[in-house]
Amino acid sequence: MNRYDFAGRTALVTGGAQGIGYEIAQRLLESNAEVTLWDFDREACEAAQRTLSSKGKVDIDIVDITDAEEVSRAAGRMATARGHIDVLVHNAGGSGPEGTVSTYAADDWRRVIELNLNATFYVNQAVVRHMSQHGYGRIVNISSIAALEGPAKAPAYAAAKAGVISVTRSLARETATQNISVNSISPAAVKTRFYDGLSETFVTTVLSKIARQRFLTVEETASLVCWLASEDNSFTTGENFNLAGARN
Ligand SMILES: NC(=O)c1ccc[n+]([C@@H]2O[C@H](COP(=O)([O-])OP(=O)(O)OC[C@H]3O[C@@H](n4cnc5c(N)ncnc54)[C@H](O)[C@@H]3O)[C@@H](O)[C@H]2O)c1
Repeated sequence: MNRYDFAGRTALVTGGAQGIGYEIAQRLLESNAEVTLWDFDREACEAAQRTLSSKGKVDIDIVDITDAEEVSRAAGRMATARGHIDVLVHNAGGSGPEGTVSTYAADDWRRVIELNLNATFYVNQAVVRHMSQHGYGRIVNISSIAALEGPAKAPAYAAAKAGVISVTRSLARETATQNISVNSISPAAVKTRFYDGLSETFVTTVLSKIARQRFLTVEETASLVCWLASEDNSFTTGENFNLAGARN
C-alpha cells in the first residue's frame, strides 16, 4: 500500500472506532499524521486507541455527532489540543432500518437523516471554521452509492447520503480559494458490521450489482480517501468519487 506524507498534519476521523473509519485512521497514522478519533461508542473507541497507538499519536474524544453543540465543543477541543485541524474524514453514519417510502416510520426517517445528513452539516461547519482560520484543509465526506441509485428499501439513507454530496459541493465552492478541498466518496459495499443487521436477500442483491463480484475492502477505501486528504490534492474539490466496482 502507498503511504502519503502527512508529517506535521493533524487529522480528525469521525466514526473511527471501527470499520472503514478505523482503517482510514490507521493509514493516516502510518503516513505520519496525528490522528483524533471521534466516536460515540466509548468501548470501541478506547480499544481502537489501544491498537492504533503502536502506529503513532492518536487521541480519542467521545462525541455523538448528532449533537451540534457537542460537535462544536469537540472541534474546539481538538483545535486547542493540536493547534490546527488539517484533515477531516467525516465517516460516521449508519443505514437505519429497511423499509420502503410508503412504509417507513417518520421517526426512523428523522433519525436516519439526523445521523447521516444533519450531522454532516454539524461536523463540516464546526471543523471548516478552524480550517479557514489557518488557510488549509482537506475534507472527505463518506456518502454511498445508494445516494445515486435510490434503493427501494433504504430511502432515508439514500436521501441523506445524496444530501452529503450536496453539502460537499456547496462547501467546496465556499472554500475553493482558501486552500481547502471538500470531496466525497460513494462506496458500494464494504464488508463491515454495517452489513450485520441487513438481510441476506439485501446483501445478495447488493453484490449482484457489482461487476467485480465482490465487496470493496476497507484498505481500498482508505487509499482513495488518503489521496483526497493529502496535500497532493491541491486542485480537486467539490467532486464525488464512486467506489463501485462497475455497476451492473
Ligand atoms: N460498509 C458499507 O458497505 C458502506 C457503503 C457505503 C457507505 N458506507 C458509509 O461508510 C461509513 C462507515 O461505515 P462502516 O461500514 O465502517 O460502519 P461501522 O458501523 O462499522 O462504523 C461506523 C462508526 O460510526 C460510529 N457512529 C455511529 N453513529 C455515531 C454517532 N451518532 N456519533 C458518533 N459516532 C457514531 C459507530 O460507533 C462506528 O464506530 C458510514 O457513513 C456508512 O454509511 C458504508
